[in-house]
Amino acid sequence: MTNNVKPLRIAGMGYSVPDTIITNDDLTKLYETSDEWIYTRTGIKERRVVSGNESAIDLGVDAAKKAIEKSGFKPEDIDCVIAAASAPPQLYPALACDIQYRLGIPNHIPSFDLTAACTGTIYALQVARGLIGAGLYKTVLIVAADNNSRLVDWKDRGTSILFGDGAGAMVVTEAEDGVDDVLSLIIKADGEIGQYIYMNMPGENCPLVEPCDAVDSKIHMAGRDVYKFVVSTLPKYVDIAIEEAGMTADDIDYLIPHQANQRIVEALQQRLGYSDDKVISNIKYYGNTSAASIPIALVEGVEKGNIKLGSTAILCGFGAGMTWGAAVVRLREGIC
Ligand code: UT7
Repeated sequence: MTNNVKPLRIAGMGYSVPDTIITNDDLTKLYETSDEWIYTRTGIKERRVVSGNESAIDLGVDAAKKAIEKSGFKPEDIDCVIAAASAPPQLYPALACDIQYRLGIPNHIPSFDLTAACTGTIYALQVARGLIGAGLYKTVLIVAADNNSRLVDWKDRGTSILFGDGAGAMVVTEAEDGVDDVLSLIIKADGEIGQYIYMNMPGENCPLVEPCDAVDSKIHMAGRDVYKFVVSTLPKYVDIAIEEAGMTADDIDYLIPHQANQRIVEALQQRLGYSDDKVISNIKYYGNTSAASIPIALVEGVEKGNIKLGSTAILCGFGAGMTWGAAVVRLREGIC
C-alpha cells in the first residue's frame, strides 16, 4: 500500500431509518419462528422497513443531507458522489445520480454506484481515499443505502429475520491540517465463495431463442457458511488493520462492526479483549441494514452517548462477494 499524497478528513456523517417497525413477534404471523429463537441466534429484536413509495433513495437523501450539514459544506462543494448499496432499488440510473439530483448538487460531477454488499461503506471510503489522495477530487459524498425488505423472500425464515432498511452517509474531504483520519484500511474479496450470499436479476431470453427458466431474484444465503467464514476470517484482518495503523487494540477506543449477527460482534469483541462499552451494537433495533449498518451504528452511537468523539475506532464489515474489510479511523469532534 502506498501512502496517500493528500490526507483525508471525515467531515460529516448522518443516518436515516424508516419509521415502520417489524418485531420478531410480528414475524410469527409469516412463518413458524419465535422471538426467543431469533434473539438468541442473532441478537435482533426488531427491524425497520420502508413503506408505500419510500425507498433506499429517500433514506439515502435524508442521511446525505444530515452529513452535508454536519460537514459545514454546501451541496455545491461536493465534487463526487459514491453510493454503496447491496442492491439498489434500481440498477440504473445509479443511486448516486438520483441522490446528486435530489440534493441539488450541480450537474457534471461524477456520481456512481459501487457494489460490495455490506462492506460497501469501507470499499467506498477506500475509493474516496484514492480519489482525494491522488488530488483528483477534493470533497466526496459517500452514501450507503439499502431497502432489503423489498428484496428478501418473506417466506424464507432463514434470511427475512435478519435484514432491515436504512442509510448512512459520510462527507470526506482533503484534510487541510495534514492529519489523515484514515489510519489504515484493508478491503478484500473472495469470489470463489460468492454463492454464500447471492441475488440474481430477473431476466428472460430473447423470444427468438429457446425460453429459459424463470430467475429467482430474491436474496439467498447459506447462513451457517457465512457465519463460519466470517468468524474464521474477519478477526485476523481486524488485527492486521490495527497493526498497519501502528497501534495496538488498547489504543483504539471503539469497535464499530457491521451489524449482521450479535454472535459475530461478540467473536470480534473477544478477539480484541474489549469491554462492552468499547463495542457498538445496535443490531437489536435495526437488524442488518447491509452497507448502511456501520455508519448507522457510528452516528447513532454518538447520539446515544455511547461514542465520544475525539476518539479512534476500528470499523469492520463483510458481505456478499464475499467481500470484507477493516479500517482504523479518527473520529473528530463535531462530525455528527
Ligand atoms: O450481511 C449478511 C451477512 N449474513 C450473516 O451474517 C449471516 C450469518 N449467519 C447467521 O446469522 C445464522 O446462520 C442464521 C441466524 C441465519 C441461522 O442460524 P443457524 O444457527 O445457522 O441456523 P440454521 O440455518 O443452521 O438452522 C437451524 C435450524 C433449522 O432446522 P433443522 O433443519 O435443524 O430442523 C432451520 O430450519 O433452525 C431452523 N430455522 C429456524 N427456526 C425458527 C431457521 N430459521 C429459523 C427461524 N425460526 N427464523
